[in-house]
Amino acid sequence: MDRKAFRELIERFWEIAGGVSVRTKILGIVLGGTLLFGLTTVLQVRYALHQVLVARTQDWGIAMASDLAARSADLVLINDLLGLHRLLQDAILHNSELRYLFVLSPQGEVLAHTFGTSPEFPAGLIEANPLPPGAPYRLQPLRTPEGIIWDIAVPIFRGRAGVLRLGLRDTAVRTAVNTVTAWLMLTTMVVSALSIGIALVLTHLIVRPIRSLVEMTERVARRDFTARATVWAHDEIGALAQAFNTMVEELAQQEQTRAFYLRRIIEAQEEERRRIARELHDETGQALASLWVGLRNLEQTLDPDTLRTRLEDLYHLVDQTLNRVRRLAFELRPSVLDDLGLVAALERYIRDYRERFGIEVEMQIVGLDERRIPPTIETAVYRIVQEALTNAAKHARCQRISVLLQASPRLLSVIVEDDGCGFDVEQALQAGRESRLGLYGMRERAQLVGGTLTIESTPGQGTTIYLRVPLESA
Ligand SMILES: Nc1ncnc2c1ncn2[C@@H]1O[C@H](COP(=O)(O)OP(=O)(O)O)[C@@H](O)[C@H]1O
Ligand SMILES: [Mg+2]
Repeated sequence: MDRKAFRELIERFWEIAGGVSVRTKILGIVLGGTLLFGLTTVLQVRYALHQVLVARTQDWGIAMASDLAARSADLVLINDLLGLHRLLQDAILHNSELRYLFVLSPQGEVLAHTFGTSPEFPAGLIEANPLPPGAPYRLQPLRTPEGIIWDIAVPIFRGRAGVLRLGLRDTAVRTAVNTVTAWLMLTTMVVSALSIGIALVLTHLIVRPIRSLVEMTERVARRDFTARATVWAHDEIGALAQAFNTMVEELAQQEQTRAFYLRRIIEAQEEERRRIARELHDETGQALASLWVGLRNLEQTLDPDTLRTRLEDLYHLVDQTLNRVRRLAFELRPSVLDDLGLVAALERYIRDYRERFGIEVEMQIVGLDERRIPPTIETAVYRIVQEALTNAAKHARCQRISVLLQASPRLLSVIVEDDGCGFDVEQALQAGRESRLGLYGMRERAQLVGGTLTIESTPGQGTTIYLRVPLESA
């Protein structure tokens, strides 16, 4: 068999073995093991037992032949053929393993035998086992239609009175070996049946928790986070069930958080729209209405001086409205961020901020001139800095803020530091889960672009926000 065919065979085996259930696999292992052990034991015992029994039977045969030879010596010497015949008949009658006995004279004639009267003395038997002169005995297995017969030749009176020949059947040996084999086979069958029973119970113990785990996994896949696996035992599968439960709890927690913030984000979005709607309706709409009324009044004004003052007022109103609309647009999404990039947008925002809140903001940019970073990162950084500065204005009661943007080829790091009152970060984040989005939103935005956000603050000692965003050096 070449290597390719061998590999195909192995693959085929794995395919079949992989396709059957765990229960079948374990049953296969147990049954295979028991049968293999049983069969090798049967073969070994058969072989060893056969060897021992054959040796013992042959020893017994030789002893028997020597004994008979000694007893027949006198009979041969006094030529008592009847006595000789009777001796052989007697021996064969009492020993079922003996197939035949006969005595040859020194000249090789048959003096007495046990083959009876009518059938011929088997042809060729005399020559089948020639005894060499001086040998104590000679053993020769003969293949006959009745099976193996061991022919044993022993000298009578050291050969001077001829030779005694004895035929020994192997049936006793065969029967004993076969009986033992049958018993061993039966034992193997019984042990196999018992092992299958035990294996069935054990596989049930193994398969049941796995099935339950599969069922629970399917429930979790359908977003049912109440699913919990039962920990049946403190083994590897038990550990798996435990790990599964921990995972599901974690997932449920995350799902809850996700749902909460999704709701908060949608609410915040609606809040923002409400604000814009109010602004457009109350401010811009009112202004345009006043403009309309003013223009209508202009129609009836004939006096050039009054006309001029009224026109002046109207210009002023248009100016104000334009400014408001611009600011609204800028707050929503500064176009400078798209057109000129992060640095320009932040500079513009900080300029406005200084005017609005009267807080001194110092901005330092390192390694970012001329360089555009991916728009998603720009937006994220812009919004995070915006929120940090808004928080500082809203909560910190600070005088100075410093903003540092530092870019290396692979990392953008931003630090916003105020000298305000500071706060307990853990507590604020904890409380923020229920109500506020600011700190959480900063962190989320940082994570969305693969970055990390750290807030360091101690009450009374100001606040520092560190943002690190990896830059793909494209
Ligand atoms: N720079 C800061 N200085 C002092 N306190 C701050 C600062 N930033 C945040 N905080 C505190 O953390 C809380 C949560 O902030 P945030 O999540 O942005 O919510 P919000 O700004 O809507 O109050 C604030 O209410 C404030 O108490
Ligand atoms: Mg805030």
